[in-house]
Amino acid sequence: MGETKVDRCACVNRTFEELKDFGSLEDAQASSGCGLECEGCLPYLKLMFASGETAIDLDDPRLKDYN
Ligand code: FES
Repeated sequence: MGETKVDRCACVNRTFEELKDFGSLEDAQASSGCGLECEGCLPYLKLMFASGETAIDLDDPRLKDYN
């Protein structure tokens, strides 16, 4: 477990490392459109901004708080 990490918004092809620099989910979305297409990355994006971690386990148990 924990081998597969989510580290980007595939729809806009931007890594969480890049997106973190926007400082907030709202600013990242407004500037890049991340998390607005398939929304599959959205819980991961929220957890990234909450935790500061830029690679998140596919099945991270904290995701249940960010759906
Ligand atoms: S992967 Fe981010 S909106 Fe689709």
